[in-house]
Amino acid sequence: MHDQLASLYPHHLATVRERADKALALGGFDHLLVAAGTPLRKFLDDQDYPFVVSPQFKHWLPLAGAPGSWIAYTPGAKPKLVFVQPRDYWHVVPEAPHGYWVEHFDIVIVRSAAEAIAQLPAGKRAVIAPACPGIDGVEIDNPQQVLDYLHWHRSYKTPYELALMREASRIGTRAHRAAENAFRAGESEFGIHMAYLAAARQIDAELPYASIVALNEHGAVLHYTHFDRTPPERSRSFLIDAGASAAGYASDITRTHAAPDAWEFQALIDSVDAAQQGFVARVRAGQSYPELHIHAHHVLAGVLREHGFFRMSAESAVESGVSSAFFPHGLGHPIGLQVHDVAGFQQNEGGGTIARPDGHPYLRMTRALEPGMVVTIEPGLYFIDMLLAELRDKPFAGDIDWTRIDHFRQYGGIRIEDDVVCTDGAPENLTRDAFALS
Ligand code: GLY
Ligand code: MN
Ligand code: MN
Repeated sequence: MHDQLASLYPHHLATVRERADKALALGGFDHLLVAAGTPLRKFLDDQDYPFVVSPQFKHWLPLAGAPGSWIAYTPGAKPKLVFVQPRDYWHVVPEAPHGYWVEHFDIVIVRSAAEAIAQLPAGKRAVIAPACPGIDGVEIDNPQQVLDYLHWHRSYKTPYELALMREASRIGTRAHRAAENAFRAGESEFGIHMAYLAAARQIDAELPYASIVALNEHGAVLHYTHFDRTPPERSRSFLIDAGASAAGYASDITRTHAAPDAWEFQALIDSVDAAQQGFVARVRAGQSYPELHIHAHHVLAGVLREHGFFRMSAESAVESGVSSAFFPHGLGHPIGLQVHDVAGFQQNEGGGTIARPDGHPYLRMTRALEPGMVVTIEPGLYFIDMLLAELRDKPFAGDIDWTRIDHFRQYGGIRIEDDVVCTDGAPENLTRDAFALS
């Protein structure tokens, strides 16, 4: 892995530099200054929230834990890393930079965030930084045209980035296996979560998002991030949406499992799984993502009909909004340095927004797919009381088998989520490939 990253990194950095050159030229800037950021302080407290590095910073190099540090890039010159290594005996001091990437930077080590700022070049500067403590000595402008350009191009992953995303998928799938075993052993949600973290060898704060570990009815809460400490009397179903990080890149993986005797729920999972693989197969250059999302509604409505939840046609289920009561979120989103990566709605490298289709307020990706993009494909079907209640007094309510729906409420819901690379040909499914190895 290390050798592979070492050989891919120079090309990645050259790509990032080239993009920076073009972004700076848009506004006539001399330098790009990218802050790692510093930890945010809790209100009326002397404790910080876990540090989260700026995604723009970790695009340049694999450092997710360098608070106060900066990258200073001047077109034509070797990029400079101003690295903060405080004199501090209270905390672990970040290790001096080492590894395959250091030779590509001029590295200056300083002792504080304020000293780092003094090392930044003068001139017309595009400063990309969050508002956070200790870096208020710099005028932060986050110029929109620079950000728009960089965000747009972040959609196209370099081979180095894809190698890291494969690694994030390998870590995540290894941990998913451990979580499934813990479910089958009758562990609580909390116990399953602990098994997941142990297998990933990552702590909560290192994960790209808060894990969803939901037994039984809890699967119907889309962002269920509570962890029951005691197991239910019977674990009938298990929905886990959990990812992992690799050098700042995310995986985002969901699987749904049924207890051995919950065969009717298993049959529904199998149908959603087959549908999901059909959607993944359509991750091809030129495919409109919103059209794929609408296609998913039709296919999932067909699944619901086949499984006896309603009698209406799939078309009328989509048109009347019935499919949205069962599948109330988007088909997926771009993923990369951030789990919900940037530029999912962007019109072009100059900015702009492509609107969502009417009636689909939670879709996070409205672009057409192109080679190098990575997106999630995460269809779901849920039994959500609040949304189903809205259907009960509609004219077509008589076409819906409420008894069957009530029976399935005990299982919560199903989501199956893979991370998929759009290529020049067939899609690369990072998640299934990683499961096949784990
Ligand atoms: N885990 C967040 C998502 O699937 O988008
Ligand atoms: Mn997702
Ligand atoms: Mn997810």
